[in-house]
Amino acid sequence: MTDKIKVGIVGYGTIGKRVADAVLLQEDMELIGVTARSYNYRMISAQAKNIPMYRWPEADELNGLKMEGEFDDLLQKSDIIVDCSPKPKGAENKEKYYIPKKKKAIYQGGEKAGVGDVSFTAQCNYKECVGKDHIRVVSCNTTGLCRTLNAIKSKYGIEAVHATMIRRGADPWDIRHGPINAIVPVLELPSHHGPDVKTVLKDMPIFTTALSVSSTLMHMHTVTVDCKETPDVDEVLKLFENTSRVRVVDNASKVRSTAEIMEFAKDLGRNRSDMPEIVVWKEAVGVTGNKLLYVQAIHQESDVVCENIDAIRAAMGFEDAEASIKKTNESLGIDFCKECTE
Ligand SMILES: NC(=O)c1ccc[n+]([C@@H]2O[C@H](COP(=O)([O-])OP(=O)(O)OC[C@H]3O[C@@H](n4cnc5c(N)ncnc54)[C@H](OP(=O)(O)O)[C@@H]3O)[C@@H](O)[C@H]2O)c1
Repeated sequence: MTDKIKVGIVGYGTIGKRVADAVLLQEDMELIGVTARSYNYRMISAQAKNIPMYRWPEADELNGLKMEGEFDDLLQKSDIIVDCSPKPKGAENKEKYYIPKKKKAIYQGGEKAGVGDVSFTAQCNYKECVGKDHIRVVSCNTTGLCRTLNAIKSKYGIEAVHATMIRRGADPWDIRHGPINAIVPVLELPSHHGPDVKTVLKDMPIFTTALSVSSTLMHMHTVTVDCKETPDVDEVLKLFENTSRVRVVDNASKVRSTAEIMEFAKDLGRNRSDMPEIVVWKEAVGVTGNKLLYVQAIHQESDVVCENIDAIRAAMGFEDAEASIKKTNESLGIDFCKECTE
């Protein structure tokens, strides 16, 4: 690949603005621009950062924001679109714009699995996705489950997984969603996360439940894995420490909650003070017989961003999964200072 990959981004919200920043940091990619659909502080910040904006077809009044062109121009100029619109708009945009224009596209985890030719988590199934025209990066929760379960499966084999997702009620900026004073169970078994993991790790025997709580700071998972071979706590901790995009933290360093993880992320000073690694607590890894138990936290706004970057390379035919993951990690500071809390 000699020419840079020309990337267009549809939707400049929680995920889209982060993917835009990440694309700007890739030496093999060029950010052609992002869509503008309404006048808001995110578009003002895009303009301040000189990110070219293209008017969305059904855009509201854009209040004098400077447009580089229409959405059709963005489509023409881009090799690939990363669609970061809210579900189910990605699937609608696929039928209306990307298929007619024969444009490759990456979709997000809010979309149904069928929107993509494949679902994607880089360290699990990159190779399967090389050259595909439509790739769906799975949701933040599914990405978190896939990263750690893939590592466990490779070392011990897996008979069964039972996991509970304790989900943040809303993103930090979001004043509309909740709950603000309740714990809300998902009244559907399994929750959609288990079947979604199987779109990436095909034969994973997983069953999930989920509930939402009054927090904006991360999701938390409690995971119980029935392993084929007996796991060992120290060995599992080493395994997680050596797994890319997973970070082990401990009580001794005073990281005891999602609040402290996000403060730690601010202190590390990376992009937007995000924590793209899946965070596992050292003290909360335990073994009884062949059962392995652990607790992990997921920064919902950022763990899928690096996945989108790798998915772009995969779609464009770049075959070397490890090289892509390494490039992405280095450019985004992922795995930085992982050993600081060992
Ligand atoms: N937030 C998370 O924690 C998270 C984590 C992982 C995956 N995801 C997935 O990522 C996707 C995007 O979620 P998000 O949280 O980033 O959403 P978001 O913050 O609400 O941002 C959505 C963006 O898409 C634009 N948009 C709205 N309708 C559109 C349409 N019909 N076509 C094109 N663009 C449109 C919005 O413009 P306006 O501002 O003008 O409305 C906004 O810029 C969803 O599939 C979601 O499930 C979200």
